[in-house]
Amino acid sequence: MDSTAARLAHLKTHGARLAALSLSDLQAREPDRGQRLALRVQGLYANFARQHVDAEALAALLGMAEASGAAQAFRDLLEGAPVNRSEGRPALHSALRTALDAPVAARAAAEAAAARERMVGLAAALRAGPVTELIHIGIGGSDLGPRLALDALKEVGDGRFTVHFLSNVDAHAAKRLLAGLDPARTAAILVSKSFGTQETLLNGALVRDWLGGSERLYAVSANVAKAEAFGIDPTRVLPMWDWVGGRYSLWSAVGFSVLLALGEEAFAQMLAGAEAIDRHALEAPAAANLPLLHALFAVWNRNVEGHAAQAVLPYDERLRLLPAYLQQLVMESLGKRVDQAGRTIRHHTVPVIWGGAGTDCQHSFFQALHQGTQVVPVDFIGVIRPDHAHAESHRVLLSHLLAQSEALANGDAGTTAAQHSPGNRPSSLLLLDRLTPRSFGALLALYEHSVYAQSVLWGINAFDQFGVELGKRLAAGLLPVLEGRAQASDPVSAALAAEIRARG
Ligand code: F6P
Repeated sequence: MDSTAARLAHLKTHGARLAALSLSDLQAREPDRGQRLALRVQGLYANFARQHVDAEALAALLGMAEASGAAQAFRDLLEGAPVNRSEGRPALHSALRTALDAPVAARAAAEAAAARERMVGLAAALRAGPVTELIHIGIGGSDLGPRLALDALKEVGDGRFTVHFLSNVDAHAAKRLLAGLDPARTAAILVSKSFGTQETLLNGALVRDWLGGSERLYAVSANVAKAEAFGIDPTRVLPMWDWVGGRYSLWSAVGFSVLLALGEEAFAQMLAGAEAIDRHALEAPAAANLPLLHALFAVWNRNVEGHAAQAVLPYDERLRLLPAYLQQLVMESLGKRVDQAGRTIRHHTVPVIWGGAGTDCQHSFFQALHQGTQVVPVDFIGVIRPDHAHAESHRVLLSHLLAQSEALANGDAGTTAAQHSPGNRPSSLLLLDRLTPRSFGALLALYEHSVYAQSVLWGINAFDQFGVELGKRLAAGLLPVLEGRAQASDPVSAALAAEIRARG
């Protein structure tokens, strides 16, 4: 048995011990859970009282964190050790917001600061010109973070720029978008770390043609040569580096459109919120370390309780895109089946991450959360102070948030079998005092560091994503098949391509 398996086996003994005890039983035995399993860190409040662990099981989880070297692992990450072992490089997204003395991290932070200065300069020049509309062209990590940030924090901006997003290679998206825009008032930012992503290059070319040239094209990329070859002047190319993963890159020039729309100060505040969590992850003891605790409960739910899905339910309209953002962050990072040394692992890793905004989702899939046969742990997220004047609406929203968590935990006997809700369904609650650039940055950094801690506990690499390459390669081979220039090697693909060609 490898060391991770042995640690998980030990946790399972606690799972077996607790199997007969429901969350309501635990609450009765440990009446102070609501306070004891809560912590407040940098404007984020987290409550884990509705996770199916008691004090002993929590101690075992913290024991696993220690045995896995979690504290040193955070230090390795932030100081720039090559934690992405399959690609032999560091994952220094923290250096985009936190300057540490360790030489590799310090160098990265200096490069990040220089890039921010260039961003600010380019932003000033754009502000001085006629452009009011920005098309942010990118996909995956080059899209989801800025899209979420701008949706969440829209009201923070001064309205000088409106940002539109183009990610899908489906040109219906481009057609719809461009139909409502005036090329004379529009600039486009091509965001691609590799500058080799087919969707982004095709959409970029389409928009370049629509703009009638490259003068108002900007790029963010680690491959300046390719951006130049595309026709973008290097003075309008902002840098990326191989030490930042796409899904961790919002804090870099990938967030240029965020800085443009929300302003330099808001962007700095977002980084400051993330920095506070970087420093917390590094310095807080395990028992008070929020990302680590969040990760430990994720491992408990996946490996001890055996739950194959995890829902993220923000009770705030402004965070409605958070589940989509986390799907990439968590599932692209943790959807792995070998350990850091390349050995096949025997324990489960990432659950399916999904969700949506409360209260809308209460009227769609919550039925399955309450009475379905599969238990889905939930992260509920709420904001205590709203940025509107409708106090009653906000109280109603928060009452639903609290009610759902209580209903999942305690259930209800009902008067018929159909009415019976079994309860005993775990959830965590995260509360932000207010949704500001700072608290938003802290929330995202919390998830980033939880993902990393989960990878450490599971012994896997959170920073590669080779699984997404095969489909891209096959698509390159199937394009000539659809064009009638080649035969598909797979007979089913051949039949499907023939059907498309016959009706196209
Ligand atoms: O989907 C795979 C992926 O490589 C993601 O990891 C990445 O965020 C996305 O494609 C976009 O990559 P790029 O920024 O290089 O265009």
